Amino acid sequence: MNNPIKDKNAEINSIIYRYLPKSDKYTELITDAMNYSVQAGGKRIRPIFMQEAYKLFTDQEETETLHRFMAAMEYVHTYSLCHDDLPAMDNDQYRRGNLTTHAKFGEAFGILAGDGLLNYAFEVISEYMANNLDYSELKKATKAFNILTTKAGYKGMVGGQTLDVYFDKNKMFDQKQEQINFIYNNKTAALIEASFMIGAILGGASEEEVQIMEKVANNVGMAFQIKDDLLDITSTQEVLGKPINSDEKNGKKTLVSFLGMEEAERLVEQLSKDAIEQLHLIGKRNETLEQIIHLLINRDN
Ligand code: IPE
Ligand code: IPE
Ligand code: MG
Ligand code: MG
Ligand code: MG
Repeated sequence: MNNPIKDKNAEINSIIYRYLPKSDKYTELITDAMNYSVQAGGKRIRPIFMQEAYKLFTDQEETETLHRFMAAMEYVHTYSLCHDDLPAMDNDQYRRGNLTTHAKFGEAFGILAGDGLLNYAFEVISEYMANNLDYSELKKATKAFNILTTKAGYKGMVGGQTLDVYFDKNKMFDQKQEQINFIYNNKTAALIEASFMIGAILGGASEEEVQIMEKVANNVGMAFQIKDDLLDITSTQEVLGKPINSDEKNGKKTLVSFLGMEEAERLVEQLSKDAIEQLHLIGKRNETLEQIIHLLINRDN
């Protein structure tokens, strides 16, 4: 059976690499660390989702705006990983089969590479918007840009990471399931929601359709994080490309600690099924998008 996540990897990487920052004599210290983090690998699931969401709504050729948003999304995600691995956060040494950015370049560079990637992501999009788009394209892109910045920020990924580390660092292990849900909705689902929504907006979806895509992606994102927690227990560093037992090391309570492995596996399947059902509320089909949601249930990294 074909695997679109793997089959699309080279194509997606070529888009992500196209916009990477160029190094020169005075900036190469930081661009080397930024490019290292992005080029270390990864499944590229967020840009893939964005591209497939776009294709759900239009048969038109892919635009440069879409490609810049796909690259920027992966830069924002990679920044979140650079910071997540820092000694002050999860303190992990391996990521994507390579040393983490802070382990390779030192802690300050782990911070700065993340900062650099976040800002550069916004530069890649806004530079193009300012100089190349006509009014109707600009309106869609501005909306998409607002979603990216919001979902990455305190009402999204940063907000989720904040509560996640707050519990760890204060050695509070009596969280309620509701609090864990809040963490997952934000630290992980938010960027996946942004990927689906931005692809949909750029593809010409209506506001109502974008809202459906947000719900679909929320289910996908929750399933994705629960699977990540399961893999943290069941996988190996070799297959995963990052250390296993990172959650246990940090005394982190996950949904798996609440539900047990079997129930958590079932929930991953249920959430993915719900996502596909909601996707059908949109009267158009993209088989590849559905196949990817299915494949993630049984992913091994
Ligand atoms: C890891 O994300 C962090 C989570 C939100 C679970 P991915 O599993 O998408 O990591 P890469 O990009 O493939 O390395
Ligand atoms: C991280 O969750 C989510 C991010 C926003 C980076 P984890 O801490 O579980 O991610 P991994 O397991 O290190 O990839
Ligand atoms: Mg973490
Ligand atoms: Mg981590
Ligand atoms: Mg994890």
